[in-house]
Amino acid sequence: MVEPIIRIKDIAWIRLRSPDLDLQEEYLTTFGLHRVERTATALYMRGTDPVHHIHITEKGDPAVLRIGFWANSLDDLHKLSKEGAGASAVESLDEPGGGKRVRIKEHNGMELEVVWGVEGAAPLPVETHTLNAGYDKLARPGALLRVGHRPSQVKRIGHAVISTPEIEKSVAWAQRHLGIVASDEVHAEDDPAMLLASFNRVDAGEAYVDHHVMMFGRHASVGLNHISFEVQDIDDLATGHDTLMRKYPDLHLWGLGRHTLGAQIFDYWRDPWGRVHEHWTDTDVLNSSHEYRRHPKSTGLHSQWGPQAPQAFRDAASR
Ligand SMILES: [Fe+2]
Repeated sequence: MVEPIIRIKDIAWIRLRSPDLDLQEEYLTTFGLHRVERTATALYMRGTDPVHHIHITEKGDPAVLRIGFWANSLDDLHKLSKEGAGASAVESLDEPGGGKRVRIKEHNGMELEVVWGVEGAAPLPVETHTLNAGYDKLARPGALLRVGHRPSQVKRIGHAVISTPEIEKSVAWAQRHLGIVASDEVHAEDDPAMLLASFNRVDAGEAYVDHHVMMFGRHASVGLNHISFEVQDIDDLATGHDTLMRKYPDLHLWGLGRHTLGAQIFDYWRDPWGRVHEHWTDTDVLNSSHEYRRHPKSTGLHSQWGPQAPQAFRDAASR
């Protein structure tokens, strides 16, 4: 394995462009994000975790502008700027939260920004539930469970998925420039050499991290397949599903179900301009002791329960 230039700490945000910030804010609020700031030209939204913002929309023609990732240090930004192919200088972010960034294009030319030093924020209060599950029948003695009719409580941004025709080169680029490592990969059913999907996690050594922070899927078109946000638990995901369904029934794409690789319970929605936003809860968490494996499509990309992926999901590639 090649030594990476840096190792990212996590995914930071998605930066989109949309023509109507009122509609974008209404959609994202129903999706379960909270407005941090709105200027004449941009909208900043956050989750409940103590992070300044996790979703940015600039005003203009619809576009996926950049996927943001956290660097571990300012030194890492300088290192990436110096050694990354085509990387920008270290720039100051002239927007709420401030911070520094390096802009860089991934293998297909999609833009990323690696950031550091953005202001923090206080966490937001969260409604939580304890389940009297079959294996823990008295976990909630005497207390009544009531789930609010409300949007999901988005906790944080979790991962991004890129559609790419040259998947091997995309993965190699990301592993070298971002220091992510493969957790699992999927190959064509009858051709073990034909890579279809690559799930990569943050390399934090012995510390446990999400199964994937960045995934690549082989597709004829280049673009963002989806961006993904963690919610609190399955009740939170399900009540958020009902809330979105009441307002945007035509935007539902896929779910509810549970993935095999990563094991997340998922629910996928388009935004008003077609960019796919995922809610998920519960994920496998891995560390350096995890043994990388390759799986045939029939097991790797199969839902453990719930519907299988529709063609419209597999074809999603927003630019
Ligand atoms: Fe996902």
